[in-house]
Amino acid sequence: MKTVYFDHAATTPVDPRVLEAMLPYFSELYGNPSELHRLGREARAAVEAARAQIATVLGAGEKEIVFTAGGTESDNLALFGSLARYRPGHLIVSAIEHPAVMEAARALNRAGWAVDFIPVDGDGIVDVDAYEQAFRDDTRLASIMSANNVVGSVQPVAELARIAHEKGALFHTDAVQAVGSVPVDVAELGVDLLSLSGHKLYGPKGIGALYVKRGTRLQPILHGGGHERRLRSGTENVPGIVGLGVAMTAAAEARISSARSEPTSTMSLNACPSRKSPTRTLASFPHSMRAASLPRRRARWSISPPIRPSRVSPAPPARSTSNIIGTSR
Ligand SMILES: Cc1ncc(COP(=O)(O)O)c(C=O)c1O
Repeated sequence: MKTVYFDHAATTPVDPRVLEAMLPYFSELYGNPSELHRLGREARAAVEAARAQIATVLGAGEKEIVFTAGGTESDNLALFGSLARYRPGHLIVSAIEHPAVMEAARALNRAGWAVDFIPVDGDGIVDVDAYEQAFRDDTRLASIMSANNVVGSVQPVAELARIAHEKGALFHTDAVQAVGSVPVDVAELGVDLLSLSGHKLYGPKGIGALYVKRGTRLQPILHGGGHERRLRSGTENVPGIVGLGVAMTAAAEARISSARSEPTSTMSLNACPSRKSPTRTLASFPHSMRAASLPRRRARWSISPPIRPSRVSPAPPARSTSNIIGTSR
């Protein structure tokens, strides 16, 4: 039976070029990058080459890339690491963040931080007016995802980052669903912190990175041997890092951003095509068509069901400036 896979927002298969580059680092090139002998130096060289590849794709400096174990850890490092030096104040996130940000924000809320969850409109785009009005004197960080993992909506990150800076706050974006799908240049976006994950862009699972703009003060959330310029202790996942570097370069070369999915006559998209990632589509199918065309007992397909407003945002009508939801303390 041929499997047709529609769930690349969940994960992607490893690109054969990525796998090929990784394999030697499981076997003959197994050194620990912290060691000074030949094997260690070879592993260190591979790690630094991958860091350079990733920095090039993002338009970042090499010292601004911190390797992590994936998107979840990058998001947690961004939120907890950037807020650690402050007494509890105020944090802004969107209402449609991935749990990696949403649950971190809730944990910060339990620790005394006030959190505003900013609603989105019918296309899944953050209400910029509500966002701007949410800032307070003690807002330390705004974290808004670049591209949504369900509807694929792409946020106006550069504008949101600019507003955060005008208000004196740091700006983080979870770009796990954006990197590899849409052009991401950290200088153009003006972000302070940006998370990415290998397995969303034909790289391996269990590896990711956090872009940390030079000068951004961050405290580690893992304590140990002081790896990654003291920001992420733990022996480097050398094969994963090598794979991430190759995957990033391959994604940048693929220029996949020209591909854009359009609705057919029998489906409608849950986000406006011009405001969403070209590689992420959530489609609704008329009930009658679904019932007619899908075999009842084998309907284990991966396209998501029609989105209900509550899955995008529990917010009332779109574009209201007074619908900041879930303010909590
Ligand atoms: C937007 C977003 N952020 C974070 C994550 C978590 O990434 P990881 O699986 O690498 O921990 C995901 C994974 O689905 C995601 O889609």
